[in-house]
Amino acid sequence: MPRGLTILGLESSCDDTAAAVVRQRAGARPEILASVVHGQTALHADYGGVVPEIAARAHAEKLDICVEEALAQAGIGLAEIDAVAVTAGPGLIGGVLSGVMCAKGIAAGAGLPLVGVNHLAGHALTPRLTDGLDFPYLALLVSGGHCQFLLVEGCDAFTRLGGTIDDAPGEAFDKTARLLGLPQPGGPAVERTARGGDPARFSFPRPLLDRPGCDMSFSGLKTALLRARDALIAEQGGLYEADRRDLCAGFQAALRDVLAEKSRRALDQCTGLTGFAVAGGVAANAAIRAALSSLAEAEGVPFLAPPLALCTDNAAMIAWAGLELFRAGHRDGFDLAARPRWPLDGAAPALLGSGRKGAKA
Ligand code: KG4
Ligand code: ZN
Repeated sequence: MPRGLTILGLESSCDDTAAAVVRQRAGARPEILASVVHGQTALHADYGGVVPEIAARAHAEKLDICVEEALAQAGIGLAEIDAVAVTAGPGLIGGVLSGVMCAKGIAAGAGLPLVGVNHLAGHALTPRLTDGLDFPYLALLVSGGHCQFLLVEGCDAFTRLGGTIDDAPGEAFDKTARLLGLPQPGGPAVERTARGGDPARFSFPRPLLDRPGCDMSFSGLKTALLRARDALIAEQGGLYEADRRDLCAGFQAALRDVLAEKSRRALDQCTGLTGFAVAGGVAANAAIRAALSSLAEAEGVPFLAPPLALCTDNAAMIAWAGLELFRAGHRDGFDLAARPRWPLDGAAPALLGSGRKGAKA
């Protein structure tokens, strides 16, 4: 690749419409020339969750605008693009379809190759974009819709070592916030409230730690929180600020302990790792980040947490995954399908839960 590769990426699998341009010149580190994200939080605010039809309509309206903005930000035209990469799943099908159709239109109109990207691969390959991490490494995807450990051995070689069998951690944070009357998204609100709280006042369970392996469960934690809250209300007629602080601190500590212990087991299953990387919105949590980082240090493995804008949903990760796949020879035809479900590791048994927001990471 004498002049390198420049890839346009599109993402629309949940509630963020995004377009980005990523370039890698021969022998150089990749560069994000543009990354545009139009969130939809306000559109779904009244409904307590993402409404698929509203999301799909908004994606269809915003994708073209995002692409124009991304090309303008990068200061290039379609003539300088080598391929169009698009999230082809997993996700809310209307949104994924909007993205795939838009990408096909651009590819057909400009005569460009098309590359379908698995959204989870986008998250899992991000540490290569941000830090040039070599294979093999362990990735923990931890978000509002997903929680899984992936051994990443190539841009199309993923082994799932374990995952949540019910709720995703972000979902548990969001539900906890709702139960305690805190604002959404729940993660940052719970983290703020937990500050100065006593994590030992309530004894929250550490689900599945008694069982071998890396699978996790978070729904019991949420039920335990509900019971503790209701007991306090029955006893005192309501919740004091100190109660909220202690409940949040206890919940966060339990979740952190489960993630750290399961991460230790996942790390112990692997040899020759170049690093342990986290991605997803929950990776923004300072307590969880600190626990995972010190675990990695104790295990003698570098810890990587991409900047938050590249941890949460974005199109730079899709452009980058597309670039890696394109370089490896992957091309898709105009029969590229939008897939609501698309496990990264086809050989792993299906997990029971997929999270409130559907298949998201
Ligand atoms: O990756 P993301 O932006 O989108 C999804 O895949 O859902 O993650 C959003 C999730 C939400 O559930 C949010 O509450 C959680 O990440 N989150 C956090 C924090 N910031 C965001 N959870 C815990 N602590 C945080 N600081
Ligand atoms: Zn995601």
